[in-house]
Amino acid sequence: MYLSLFCLCVTSAASSTTSLWGKKALFNFRPCVWQLQPGAVVPALEELTVCIQLRYTLATQWTGFAYKAPGVIATELGLGGTRTQLTVWMFGGEWHFNRELRENEWHSFCLTWSSQAPKVNVYINGTFQHGFQMNRSLPERLAPNGTLTLGVSHYVDVNGEVHLETGSNLVGEIGLFRMWAREWRAEELREQSCADGDVVSWDLQQWKYGCSPVSDSSLQCGKCNITFLSSSLTCLALTLTNSHTGTIVVS
Ligand SMILES: *[C@@H]1O[C@H](CO)[C@@H](O)[C@H](O)[C@H]1NC(C)=O
Ligand SMILES: *[C@@H]1O[C@H](CO)[C@@H](O)[C@H](O)[C@H]1NC(C)=O
Ligand SMILES: *[C@@H]1O[C@H](CO)[C@@H](O)[C@H](O)[C@H]1NC(C)=O
Ligand SMILES: *[C@@H]1O[C@H](CO)[C@@H](O)[C@H](O)[C@H]1NC(C)=O
Repeated sequence: MYLSLFCLCVTSAASSTTSLWGKKALFNFRPCVWQLQPGAVVPALEELTVCIQLRYTLATQWTGFAYKAPGVIATELGLGGTRTQLTVWMFGGEWHFNRELRENEWHSFCLTWSSQAPKVNVYINGTFQHGFQMNRSLPERLAPNGTLTLGVSHYVDVNGEVHLETGSNLVGEIGLFRMWAREWRAEELREQSCADGDVVSWDLQQWKYGCSPVSDSSLQCGKCNITFLSSSLTCLALTLTNSHTGTIVVS
């Protein structure tokens, strides 16, 4: 059973040559562009989940991602932090909470939101950390068709060109970025831990980049792309199979 699942997994990863699973984006002192393709449209979401996996090597203020509404300077949705604090931006507002986030370690962050609550929930490494209650006067939808950058914030000039904002850019790497049009609950998040996003996926078809992605066999889920299968089973299969070859894939 595991063997057949593993084969499906490999077939799916191999059939999509644009897949970024098993690859990461590197960010040096000079920030690199990793931008959502202008053709990849983020809809007006009434609920959402965003997950990003990152590791920073320089313990200054860093940015995980920043999504900006068309023509708006403030951040519509974003995540950043320092060694001791995590920051969430939404609808131009900013929320913080204290948490030790060690450098040189992979952290997996997920944000979930729905206009019903309205509340932003933060998960780290799959565990619920904090819920930010939002003011009901805030918008009930995420502004659509915005611009999204990884590892650094940005602004858009009058010609529609995206410029990076240095100063709080990430020096480190990003191993996954995914976005869904659903507010996953804690147990659903676990099921999605190795599944691709339905709004933004970890696939080159959706990203415009200035620095090429780099393979890393130690990344969570590896090349496992299981949008169409139960994620945990397939990744378990991949983990077991890889353990024979000496590679350990954490899933
Ligand atoms: C994952 O597999 C599905 C089904 O084969 C495919 O449609 C999709 O493009 C793949 N995604 C990635 C990121 O490889
Ligand atoms: C998340 O998990 C990784 C790997 O187990 C660990 O190195 C890291 O410190 C964790 N992050 C937090 C904030 O607990
Ligand atoms: C919500 O926003 C409105 C308008 O900006 C403000 O008057 C009100 O005090 C805010 N409520 C809370 C609980 O922050
Ligand atoms: C968003 O972009 C799509 C495709 O470019 C376009 O068809 C749509 O009208 C845009 N929507 C808004 C609200 O700007």
